[in-house]
Amino acid sequence: MPRQTQLSRALVQEIQRGRLLPGSTLPGSRTLAAQLKVNRKVVVAAVDELVAQGWLEALPARGTRVALNLPTLAVADAEGRRSVETALAQRRATVVAMNDGVPDARIAPVDELARAQRRALRALARTGLGYGDTAGDPVLRDVLAGFVNHARGLSCSSEEVVLTRGSQGALSLFALAMLEPGDTVAVEHPGYAPAWRAFQLARADVVHVAVDADGLRTDELEAQARRLKGRLKAVYVTPHHQYPTTVAMSAERRMHLRRIAESFGLYIVEDDYDYEYHFEGAPLLPLAATKDLSSRCIYIASLSKLIAPAIRLGYIIADRSVVARLRAVRELLDRQGDVVLERAVAELIEDGELQRHARRARQLYRQRRDHLLQQLASRSPLRSAIECDPPGGGLALWMRLRGLTSEELAQRARARGLALTPGSAHAATGAVAAFRFGFAAHTSEELSRICDTLEACLRTSARTSKSTSCLP
Ligand SMILES: Cc1ncc(COP(=O)(O)O)c(C=O)c1O
Repeated sequence: MPRQTQLSRALVQEIQRGRLLPGSTLPGSRTLAAQLKVNRKVVVAAVDELVAQGWLEALPARGTRVALNLPTLAVADAEGRRSVETALAQRRATVVAMNDGVPDARIAPVDELARAQRRALRALARTGLGYGDTAGDPVLRDVLAGFVNHARGLSCSSEEVVLTRGSQGALSLFALAMLEPGDTVAVEHPGYAPAWRAFQLARADVVHVAVDADGLRTDELEAQARRLKGRLKAVYVTPHHQYPTTVAMSAERRMHLRRIAESFGLYIVEDDYDYEYHFEGAPLLPLAATKDLSSRCIYIASLSKLIAPAIRLGYIIADRSVVARLRAVRELLDRQGDVVLERAVAELIEDGELQRHARRARQLYRQRRDHLLQQLASRSPLRSAIECDPPGGGLALWMRLRGLTSEELAQRARARGLALTPGSAHAATGAVAAFRFGFAAHTSEELSRICDTLEACLRTSARTSKSTSCLP
């Protein structure tokens, strides 16, 4: 491979691995050439190539820096200008995942978290690095109880809080502690399949209950509860922004759900995964905020949407009798969580750092959502093929397709360097002519480029195909 290509590839790799950060300045071409023991012309050619591709920016009289907005999509028409190797490497490297609603880790308060973790580790080394509480760091449990009571209308004590590794850890822990083989859990359909699988892990059965524009069809739930005569143990819901459709459960449905839970003795597993992100008005309070219901509610939340999914920290808030069973199973699974991370997060909440981050993120994501909606409305190929009801919050849009399946669209998008998950991933069976478009982790420019790609995909002779739909 020519040296110039080797060097430009190596630089792209360093940028992708995060060792060269956006905005950081590169040494001058003479210094780089001397360090790498190559001719300066090779360095200049490689840098020019990366400037042309958008990985680097040349600043007049100030040298070259890593671009602030890194290229994310393979741009098909620029390929002619590149060597074949570079084009292929670029294409492999630049598949953009149209994720299903993750936050932008680039704006996460990582420096604050790193400093708090260092302080926590030092402080705990003196007293607290032995085996600890199976329910998690008592300091964070106390701080979290105050936080959810204040911000989400709950009225829990730290004794009702169990820290977990993300919501997924919470769902599996609930399943193993509270379900028995042969029990049934009702779940939303379409819905969050990782939750279904957690219930099945405990050898429970899952029944699917349809979702419409008001959320879970509680009339169907009631019919299932009657049919299953005592075997229905719990109902799993995402009432704030239903996953994947983003609809909020109406007040009327919430009331009906409460009545059903009481009369059939069901647990309500409330997955409140993105409570921070509400853009229009005040969000409805969680179901767990209803006092007479709190002993039936298993409230689950995590930091995955607030900071980043890799920060594995979630929590369950439940009645003390449930907490006792959760603790017993936790002891057998992994005994306890990461006390250093937990103590550091307690500090960030106490200092108001997480709340400040949530406010900044909410504002930014709202702008990104509005930008995406505006892009969808202003491009006629997108307007005619995609239908979307703007959600009041959350980090994703639910895009219903006309005239082609989401599998078909995913295939066309993949060929253009854009990965999207077909809606059928959220359904028990059958195709779903819709998909989730997570907008929060992309800048406005990135969103526009994704829309360019989508538009190009839709222009490709749209063959009309039949698809079943289970969508509101
Ligand atoms: C419905 C739902 N629940 C929970 C989560 C968060 O999961 P975790 O906390 O395990 O990262 C997600 C993330 O995408 C989700 O979509």
